[in-house]
Amino acid sequence: MSAPPPTPESLLACAVDVARAAGAHAMANLDRRRVSIHESQHDVKLELDVECQKIAEGIIRERYPDHAFLGEEDTGATAGGTGDFQWIVDPIDGTVNFSSGFPFWCCSVAVRRGPDTLAGAVYAPELDQLYTAAANVPAQLNGNTLSVSSTASLAESIVMTGMDKNVIPEMPRYAVFRTVADHARKARILGSAALDLCRVAVGQADGYVEAGIYLWDMAAAGLIVQRAGGALEILRTLENGRLVCVATNGRIQSELVKRVAAVLPPLQVEA
Ligand code: IPD
Ligand code: CA
Repeated sequence: MSAPPPTPESLLACAVDVARAAGAHAMANLDRRRVSIHESQHDVKLELDVECQKIAEGIIRERYPDHAFLGEEDTGATAGGTGDFQWIVDPIDGTVNFSSGFPFWCCSVAVRRGPDTLAGAVYAPELDQLYTAAANVPAQLNGNTLSVSSTASLAESIVMTGMDKNVIPEMPRYAVFRTVADHARKARILGSAALDLCRVAVGQADGYVEAGIYLWDMAAAGLIVQRAGGALEILRTLENGRLVCVATNGRIQSELVKRVAAVLPPLQVEA
């Protein structure tokens, strides 16, 4: 007889261990925070990105050898696993912040079964913040339950956003930024999509939108927003895995989605 599937609580415990271990490695090696393996105009890939992901993957593979693994440093490849559980890891989200000594960065770990995210942990070591949620566990920050804001209109809202490092017409980052800046009270860019989403979960911001992020940027924190009472929608998914993601306190969701959808290019339909 095969073993019963792991519970969301046990998956969450593993996600927390993984996020803490990756964060601890980054913290123990702060003297190497600027050592890069690749740099471009708007991005940097660090030795520590790869090392932290190896640590994360090692823990997951030891505990759940039959689970699949997707990490940012795999350039999108899904590795290993025969079952339908998949771990999704961004070892350092906010890499440029981390590298520059700006403490707004985190380790993000989620696990899903099919389309359903079951557990997520977002750990920001330099802020001493651990955000968690599971399918049947409320969103928490350092063990305290979270809830989203009650702001009822986009005009009164703070909306977090980000700038994709690449410019592609299907992901119109300036148009998205402009519609947010025009219609929200304030647009804010802090440089870590996962921690931006956690601003929504904790009620410090009312919404988050970004065109061009990947699953590993938002999987864990997206669940945390939802379990804090908020809403999350993926408006577009490109073949290369890039997403348009909108998350809010729920009350401004339809207004923000409408504004963002209005500036996305029409979907290409095959002839
Ligand atoms: C980036 C950050 C940033 C977002 C970018 C992401 P990285 O992730 O989350 O806030 O605007 O789209 O790629 O490269 O720091 O892991
Ligand atoms: Ca990221």
